[in-house]
Order: sequence, then C-alpha cells, then structure tokens
Amino acid sequence: MKSKASAPGKIILFGEHFVVYGVKAILCAIDKRITVTSEFIPEERISIKSNIGKLELPINTPLAKIESPLKPFFYLAQKMIKKHNHKSGIKVSVESEIPSGVGLGSSSASCVAGAASISKLFEEVGNEKILELSIEAEKTIFENTSGADCTVCTFGGLMQYDRKNGFSKIDLESNFHFIIANSKIEHSTDSIVSNVQEFKKNNEIKFSELCKKESELVNDVLRFLKNNDLKELGEKMQENQQFLETIGVSNEKLRDMIKLAEKFSFGAKITGAGGGGCIIALVEESNLKSNLYEMKEKNLECFSAKIDFKGLNTF
Ligand code: MEV
Repeated sequence: MKSKASAPGKIILFGEHFVVYGVKAILCAIDKRITVTSEFIPEERISIKSNIGKLELPINTPLAKIESPLKPFFYLAQKMIKKHNHKSGIKVSVESEIPSGVGLGSSSASCVAGAASISKLFEEVGNEKILELSIEAEKTIFENTSGADCTVCTFGGLMQYDRKNGFSKIDLESNFHFIIANSKIEHSTDSIVSNVQEFKKNNEIKFSELCKKESELVNDVLRFLKNNDLKELGEKMQENQQFLETIGVSNEKLRDMIKLAEKFSFGAKITGAGGGGCIIALVEESNLKSNLYEMKEKNLECFSAKIDFKGLNTF
C-alpha cells in the first residue's frame, strides 16, 4: 500500500521575522507543491529519497546522530513506527516543484506532506493533528520556528497568524498574482533568525519600535485586503521591505532585484527569512508575461505564482 500527500509552498506577504516576536504576519500558500509518497518495506530501515539527497538508516538510529535536511521525515517515520509498534521499515519518496532553501516553504510543505503521508500508513488523522506533527518535525531542523509556515501549508489560502492566537483565514474576492524571483543565494532560516535575535539584543528599543510599526502596517494591510486595493498593498510591501533592511536580512543582490521589480509591479519585497532566498512582486495579471520577460532578460530565475486555496491534499 502506498500513501500519498501533497502540500503547497508558501510566501510571507508581511511580517516575517517580526512574527517570531508576537507580531501578526500575513501569509499565503502558492500553487507550487511538494508530494510525498510512503510505503512499508520489509527491511528494518527508514529510507528517504528526494531531489536534495538520500537518507537511509536503521529504524532505531538516535535523532541526535542525524545531520541531514531530511531529518524531519526520519523523525516522522520513526515516531509512527514506535507509536504503532510496527515491525518493519518505511520508504519515503519526495517530489518537489518548490526550489529548496530559498524561503518558499519547501521545508514546511515537506513536513506537512510527510506527516500526512506517513501517518496515513497507520491511521486516519485530521488536519489539526497533521499540523501539530509537522511543526514537531520541522523543529528537528529549525528549533525556533513560529509554526506559521506549516500552518499555511496545511490549510492553504491567505491567512493571518500570530503566535498567541494562531491563525485565521482571510477571505479574498479574487486571487493575487505574483512574480517570484530567486536570488539563488541559499540561506539557513535558523541562522538568519538567530542573527535577528542578536540585532534585537543589541537594539532593544529600536526593535520594539519596529515591531509596533510592523503591527500597524499589518493592520492597515488587513483593511486594504478587504477592498482588494493592490496599489495600497504594494506601497505597504515597500514599507515592510524597509523594516527588513533595518534588521539586516537584506543584501545587495536582493535590493537590485527589488529595484528592478518595483519598476513594473505594485510593490516588491523579500519573502521569508531573507539573507538570500526570494523576492516577491505583486503584479497585474494582464502584465504577467511581459513582466516575467523583463526579469528573465536580466538573467534572473523567476516564475509566476498565485494563491493555492486547497492546502494539504491526501490521495
Ligand atoms: C521564515 O519563512 C519566516 C520567519 O519569520 C521564521 C518563522 O516565522 O518561523 C523568518
């Protein structure tokens, strides 16, 4: 028996980093997915294969001994095997449409699709429980995660999220269209989050002012979203980018990409942890093709994306 699940990647529209300190963030799932297939195997091993590599170890390998970005899958498979006192191993295959390590939620989507696919080998589990499992799994490689990314990859759509109140969906009249451009500079979310923690430690007053401003910005955005006001939303993206510049998560390459995208979009900014990774630009659907052409002419790796409203899918 094979158990298959897929989950969408995500972009953070507003509030990355500040969300770790309690500010509300706005995220959306995008129409690019990770699909995970799991099956039982007779060997007493857990075997994981994905486009970023392979990991195959005996079931009882201590987690602390594993240094691999595929560790969350191992954690999930080991947990389920132990919970159900299962006597053989599991093989996990991962297929991805999401570039990894560039802030588009590849790790969260993997954890969500992995949690659903592996647990469905043993039992039917609801989305709330899948989310809980996926956050636990993501914590094996990213201890300080706010949980926001896994949440949107599970439920899809556009949502607001804060650590205290969790998430709530935002209803939208229509879809949004984005151009996502990849700086091709890989980043480690964990280490950038630690750098921001350091910035906060050295600039407590400035950081708390920024959190306040980011909170006000997100509240304005929630109003503009209701009115589908793309121009105002674009302006808020630019403003949010300035806050991200201040906390030191941008760099020259990202700034150049944003400058280029600003010429034709409503607004552009880093999405996710920064330090590399991707930028997003909010664009008019009718201009999508020509805007993409303009970016590609400058040798940038980019693609268009819209909001995915389905979230986790099991089949
Ligand atoms: C990473 O996609 C988003 C951060 O805000 C970290 C987090 O929320 O866990 C940088």
